[in-house]
Amino acid sequence: MCGIVGYVGPKEAKDVVVEGLKKLEYRGYDSSGIAYFQDHSIEVIKTKGKIIELEKKLVGQRTCGKLAIGHTRWATHGRPTDVNAHPHRTPRVALVHNGIIENHAELKQELIKKGYEFVSETDTEVLAVLIHSKLDEGLTPMQAVQKSLAAVEGAFALAIIIKGAEDQLFIAKNLNPLIIGLGKDEMLVASDISAIIRHTNRFIILEDNEMGVVSNSGCTITDFSGKKITKEVKETSWNPTLAEKEGYKHFMKKEIFEQPRALADTLSDIVDNERFRINLRDFPLAKEEIQNISRIVIVACGTSYHAGLVGKFFIENLCGLHTEVDLASEFRYRNPIIDKHTVMLLISQSGETIDTIGALMEARARGAKIVSICNVRESTIDRKSDYTIFTDAGPEIGVASTKAFTAQLMCLAAIALFLRQEINGKDHHMTTKYVEELLKIPGAINQILGNDSAIQEIAREFFNYRDFLYLGRGNNFPIALEGALKLKEISYIHAEGYAAGEMKHGPIALIDEEMPVVVIAPRDRYYQKTLSNLEEVKSREGIIISLGTERDEKLMSLSKAYMSVPPIDELFYPLLTVVPLQLLAYYIADFRGTDIDQPRNLAKSVTVE
Ligand code: AGP
Repeated sequence: MCGIVGYVGPKEAKDVVVEGLKKLEYRGYDSSGIAYFQDHSIEVIKTKGKIIELEKKLVGQRTCGKLAIGHTRWATHGRPTDVNAHPHRTPRVALVHNGIIENHAELKQELIKKGYEFVSETDTEVLAVLIHSKLDEGLTPMQAVQKSLAAVEGAFALAIIIKGAEDQLFIAKNLNPLIIGLGKDEMLVASDISAIIRHTNRFIILEDNEMGVVSNSGCTITDFSGKKITKEVKETSWNPTLAEKEGYKHFMKKEIFEQPRALADTLSDIVDNERFRINLRDFPLAKEEIQNISRIVIVACGTSYHAGLVGKFFIENLCGLHTEVDLASEFRYRNPIIDKHTVMLLISQSGETIDTIGALMEARARGAKIVSICNVRESTIDRKSDYTIFTDAGPEIGVASTKAFTAQLMCLAAIALFLRQEINGKDHHMTTKYVEELLKIPGAINQILGNDSAIQEIAREFFNYRDFLYLGRGNNFPIALEGALKLKEISYIHAEGYAAGEMKHGPIALIDEEMPVVVIAPRDRYYQKTLSNLEEVKSREGIIISLGTERDEKLMSLSKAYMSVPPIDELFYPLLTVVPLQLLAYYIADFRGTDIDQPRNLAKSVTVE
């Protein structure tokens, strides 16, 4: 939920760190700060607000030399204020922290009894003072960090500087991500690769309960007891320009328009175009084990959870396996019934969502096989899974997930078809038909995107309304949920997704001329029923924005505004119907002037519970 950057090397450390923080701003942006040594004292500059505010404060500051740490924050403990911003410091220690120190209150009380004072409301400051207290006991910097970590409970990714060790960064990791970038005569540490990719594509991934000391000549990694660990150096092929806006007004719009390429790239890794078969190399279950799968349990959060709801339709319709879908934050505490014949399917764009990681650990402890769908290679969920399918969507910077969502749907359809291929007795002619339909989807989305100006005009007409209701049936009910989430998270308009058939059980009381109702009604098995729901809205003076297949005169006659998608096998409509809703939410937010790529109170990766 926060971003950390550290640098040691010949460049102006402040500049490298601030540039890296800007790449991590999507992880949290309610305050930011930087710490470095100046004339052998620790200098800390930090401020409430976005990184642009920090840059203003740094104007005119002297050069800081070769070492600095920085942080961009999404507040957990303590309001977003200058004082609560990171880095937190004492006269001898400064540190930046991503995560939560669960036992901060007890530690704080013990330190206050020893005469130490505090200025902030945060859990992080407690750790800085704790390390300082260990230095006061005469420990070396490394010993002081080790002893302090031994007393701490909770999740953390840390970068620490200590007076007297002014050419070293101290780092530690438990549950929250931290990587080390290996440059030429320079080293970097960061929450993820996007912050360091401009300096190096070689990196080391820290695992839980690992710590280290980093200088410009290299790094030494140990466990928390001090036992040395040899780490593999990895390389990434990520291209830094992929994460730039490339002429689009917002990352979100760029990523909506990248969907045809993202889906084509995702498919290219898994579809055998000659045989029209899905090829999941090294899938962790043998053919006979797949016959014995008792249940598939899909677990995720937010938009990825909505993808899981659509995935249930794919799996149950294509391979007849019982599939449940659960919110990660609920699953991990409900004492889930899991056994060795259960396949857990975790979905996460970032691969760092702490609730989804918690669900993974819970399922692992109960003997389930863990398969994941991730967009970030070497992410925590990727590394902890038995098997990961990657949504080759490229970096998704906009906080509102778009291309990763449709790529997740593509992967879910592919998994369902792969299992179908492996389960005896399925009609493989139909498998071929379904794979052919999947291959049509990037082009179909391109066609929808060609109509975005019409959707922009609909947004212009509706951007001032205060409440929206989204209705869908069957596999488009999750798309109603997703469309509502997109609108609320970037435009701050209240929006609710509902099963169209449930309208008459309550929400119909809401219908009036003040609340637009978006109805998803493609030509599928639910069409006639959904049309009836739409008539119910119409007869109560409701305002209808409908979404249908091509030119649907009947729908158009009942609607104040109409959006369309090309025809596709009804099982795959969700991959298409979500796109006009992404555009509708984007343009409404744009007309409202909200911060589309970094909406208030949100962050791209929710790494706190
Ligand atoms: C989606 O637009 C939201 N930003 C949010 O719901 C997100 O999908 C959720 O936090 C899960 O993130 P993940 O896919 O990285 O696990």
